[in-house]
Amino acid sequence: MRIHFHGHACFEIEGEAGRIIIDPFLTGNPSTTAKLEDFTQLNAILVTHGHSDHLGDAIELSKRTGAPIITVFELAAYCRSQGAETHAMHIGGKHLFPFGWVKLTLALHGSGIENPEGGSMIYVGPPCGFLLQIDEKWLYHAGDTGLFGDMELIGLRYPIEVAMLPIGDNFGMGIEEAVHASQLLLPKVVIPMHYNTFPHIAQDVSEFLQLLQRRAPESQGKALKPGETLEV
Ligand code: NI
Ligand code: MN
Repeated sequence: MRIHFHGHACFEIEGEAGRIIIDPFLTGNPSTTAKLEDFTQLNAILVTHGHSDHLGDAIELSKRTGAPIITVFELAAYCRSQGAETHAMHIGGKHLFPFGWVKLTLALHGSGIENPEGGSMIYVGPPCGFLLQIDEKWLYHAGDTGLFGDMELIGLRYPIEVAMLPIGDNFGMGIEEAVHASQLLLPKVVIPMHYNTFPHIAQDVSEFLQLLQRRAPESQGKALKPGETLEV
């Protein structure tokens, strides 16, 4: 399978049985090299939560490609009300799609959409992470989250090939927490994400890679630049 990084928390995963995109923040993303128009064929669009840097172009991509947005029930209802195809799930549940398994995991974060009319945000349920099994391999996209102890349970229950973990701090895990998360999850490979897109989440990724090598040597850090691909 091929894992393409499109900047921030956006990954496109190409397996033997399909192509999916996670958190498709393309329009307005200063760190991506991809454009909405590049995606003409998708089997699913996975969204971890309602913040604009994750929901991104999901609704428009669903309308263009017909691919369903897979996310928590409340955010799925919002997307459906905006004209998208959806497949609602919830935390702890799994479902077998033609491209592979999707399981929703806990994430410690918020999930709201800015109201275009101003005033309070539109709340769209809890945020989530994704455990995926594609081509017999387990992947974990943590979404936006703080460190939580149940990552150990995820690591015990699933042999994770690749974990995509935020390191940007401020809105979620920073470098130290992401290294601790790697110790709990025990993935073969860790791809850092959610850093350097905006000033609040500026990080020196080499610091993360060095600390990971020191404290979690069984996991290999792979920092992908936007547009780069990892084959696993
Ligand atoms: Ni967020
Ligand atoms: Mn975010």
